[in-house]
Amino acid sequence: MEVLIAANAEEAATFAAEAVLHGLASRKTGNPVLGVATGSTPLGLYSELAQRVARGEADFGSTSAYALDEYVGLEGTHEQSYRQTLINELCHVIGVKEENLHTPNGFGDSEEQIIAQAAAYDAQLTEAGVDVQILGIGTNGHIGFNEPGSSLGSRTRIKRLTAQTRADNARFFDGLDAVPTHSVTQGLGSILQARRLVLIATGSQKADAVATALEGALSAACPASVIQLHPDVVVVLDEAAASNLKNRRYYDDAAAGLQFGI
Ligand code: F6R
Repeated sequence: MEVLIAANAEEAATFAAEAVLHGLASRKTGNPVLGVATGSTPLGLYSELAQRVARGEADFGSTSAYALDEYVGLEGTHEQSYRQTLINELCHVIGVKEENLHTPNGFGDSEEQIIAQAAAYDAQLTEAGVDVQILGIGTNGHIGFNEPGSSLGSRTRIKRLTAQTRADNARFFDGLDAVPTHSVTQGLGSILQARRLVLIATGSQKADAVATALEGALSAACPASVIQLHPDVVVVLDEAAASNLKNRRYYDDAAAGLQFGI
């Protein structure tokens, strides 16, 4: 695991962009496949990638994107659906074509239908083979919407949101009551299939979750700790999100070594 601690948000976006582009470039055959997150955290990265596209250093015209999650009960055309959010914040920003954006479908006539759609999405994901999965982290340690207690081997499925997650996301809705109670999310086992994981966290509200995920025990109680099992993880933090890490000195030494190609 590489832990890169940036001086500010701009530097964090640069580190994350490098990690994403290197991961995509290492694909041997076929078009690149990018796993994408919604929420506030990856917006700086998407903007940094857009600048590289504008400078001719990157091109996402042939890239497929697969979302981590979607709310249950919102159609893909709903303005707060993650599909719509990604069309606005990813497709229109870095140039992934809308027809190449894949999102779980949390809308249907019955629970059985949504369960079947989730399983089909998981199969599609496995078939595509995600090169790089971008991850944010919840204040409770979730990744995707795998809330504490999620099976470390879980697959894409319906997951109830915790009260904390609904409160955290109420800022995107007209009040807490409007926040859906359930999501369809890639499972932790599904996320681990990606060839590289790039987890980004910024702000002091993430400091506890980050320390538990990186330096605590592997445990369903902190779903993000599952990244400890993955062989190729880059964690990009700002100073505030890194503030509770015990091994900070080591991460800095290791990162300095990387810069000199050691
Ligand atoms: C979003 C997702 C979530 C967020 C997490 C952090 O697709 O899967 O795990 O990454 O809730 O959200 P922000 O970035 O808004 O703090």
